Amino acid sequence: MCGIVGYTGYRKVIEVLFNGLTNLEYRGYDSAGIAVRDENEIKIYKSLGKLINLKNEVERCKSQIKNPTSGIGHIRWATHGSPSLINAHPHTCSCGKLAVVHNGIIENYKALREELIQQGCVFRSQTDTETIAHLVALEYSKVKDLEEAVRNSVKRLQGAYAICVMHKDVPDVIVGARKHAPMLIGVGEGENFIASDTPAVIEYTKKTIYLEDNEIALVTKNNVKITDINGNIVNKKVEVLPWEPVALSKLGYKHFMLKEIHEQPDVIRNVLNGKLYDIDEAIKLNEVKIDKEKLKDLNKIEIIACGTSLNAALVGKYLIEDFAGISVEVEASSEYIYRKTTTNSSTLVIGVSQSGETADTITAIKQAKEKKSHVLIITNRPDSNMARLADSLIPLNAGIEVSVAATKSYSAQLISFYLLAIYLAEIKNSLNKEYLKNLKHELIQLPTKMEEILSNTSNIQECARKFSSYKNFIYIARGINLSSAYEGALKLKEISYINATGYPAGELKHGPIAMLDETMPVLSILIPGGICYEKILSNSEEAKARNAKLIALTSSEDENIKNLFDFVIKIPSISEILSPALTCVPLQLLAYYIAEFLGKDVDQPRNLAKSVTVE
Ligand code: M6R
Repeated sequence: MCGIVGYTGYRKVIEVLFNGLTNLEYRGYDSAGIAVRDENEIKIYKSLGKLINLKNEVERCKSQIKNPTSGIGHIRWATHGSPSLINAHPHTCSCGKLAVVHNGIIENYKALREELIQQGCVFRSQTDTETIAHLVALEYSKVKDLEEAVRNSVKRLQGAYAICVMHKDVPDVIVGARKHAPMLIGVGEGENFIASDTPAVIEYTKKTIYLEDNEIALVTKNNVKITDINGNIVNKKVEVLPWEPVALSKLGYKHFMLKEIHEQPDVIRNVLNGKLYDIDEAIKLNEVKIDKEKLKDLNKIEIIACGTSLNAALVGKYLIEDFAGISVEVEASSEYIYRKTTTNSSTLVIGVSQSGETADTITAIKQAKEKKSHVLIITNRPDSNMARLADSLIPLNAGIEVSVAATKSYSAQLISFYLLAIYLAEIKNSLNKEYLKNLKHELIQLPTKMEEILSNTSNIQECARKFSSYKNFIYIARGINLSSAYEGALKLKEISYINATGYPAGELKHGPIAMLDETMPVLSILIPGGICYEKILSNSEEAKARNAKLIALTSSEDENIKNLFDFVIKIPSISEILSPALTCVPLQLLAYYIAEFLGKDVDQPRNLAKSVTVE
């Protein structure tokens, strides 16, 4: 979604803004713009589409640009008003002295707009953001203090915002404010940054201050002042980012997605680190801040998430019910928030999110907190809004994920659920000791098995080549791998725009079989020894009888598989219960290679954003 970066300091301002925006590009956007203070003027440049267009625009205008000393930049993902030059940020007031960039949605913008038009403001765009520009400019004309003008203005805004404001008459000052949208300060020496997310500043500084809701930051090159909505100074902690700038490099891979798929074995080692190191020892999960005696009596868990995180949650449900016998409901956050739930103070509510910024999940978590539930957050961003709402926090430690299509965060979420489910089972003493030992042993082996798949992907590439021209796919599975089918199909849809549906294999004959013919391949996930192995084979036969081309994803050595299926993707032998953590890898690779083969923009698929910060 939208991204913001602001800078004031000694470096080349335009270069810093472009670097910051480039590092936010992965979030998905449709237009971009910058405003720089240059020769006592605010100069604004905008373009539609990718940042390269904005760079070209700035290059075209370079004779007008002398020596900018501060600036703000924005990438926009349209919400109010179509993607267009006029709607791209920064926005200005009627006289053009002020520039503002904004992430979020101002819910009362229509009423404010009417009011401002009555007062003589001239609106140019259809955006909610332009309201902020006029509002702050009017306030500034009264109070002659930019920080105060922003404070007075945001008091009138309803909805979500992270904003940065510059004014021609206040040289090299950037004022930022936030509510329900992330914003941070990058602290430097003789320079300071302001941004909506850490990648925008990480190339320059690892020192950050996170703004909280209703806080206002006044940023100059030598100073950062944070105040609350009433103007009281707030003393903030300077935190040090755990990431190196190299996290934002492709390290020789063609795409971030491919790099992130290949990082998964190490990600899993990271997740297991310190929690599982000896099969004879109990899982250590100090992150769960609920008394063990209370956990013994826990009888209801709700897991809330969206997209890929929702698919990981389905595996979590299966595991917790299977290992610990605790009943688990899984629900899409966007559904949870608009119905009467039975959540109460004895429910453990788990929120799962790579970004920790997904608006639907944040709203759902807030509702659960109002009902006094204990909230456990599983996220890759311990610095996120969602993490701040957590009573217990399990960080994924997967490292920054740049590709819009989630891969390594998914496998890290799965492993976190394995650990949590075993932890609960050990507290409840609900699993046989030998079974537990084998499970832990297999978990420790998992990264090596993944490496085996990743060391030779030629067969998967061949499958991608053979099947890339099909327009529709069905992925079938049963039991714990059903979510693997959902996730594999989601990956294919997201990056190749091919219609793919995950389906319970047993449901095929209750409807979808009607669509099967030679134009719709069926991919079956088959784990020998699994409860439904034979049944899925029969379901595949049924598809074959309708002329569908069949792909098997399996660890089976059975020669008959080769006769039945048109293509076989092999994975190392693994127990069914652990297999989702392995089947995800070839499915990610298959989606990747199909998209790559079709020449799609793999890391930044159309219409998608990395963190969906609007409902
Ligand atoms: O950051 P989150 O995990 O909360 O994001 C949820 C979904 O938006 C996300 O998983 C989305 O489906 C991805 N594009 C998946 O690849």
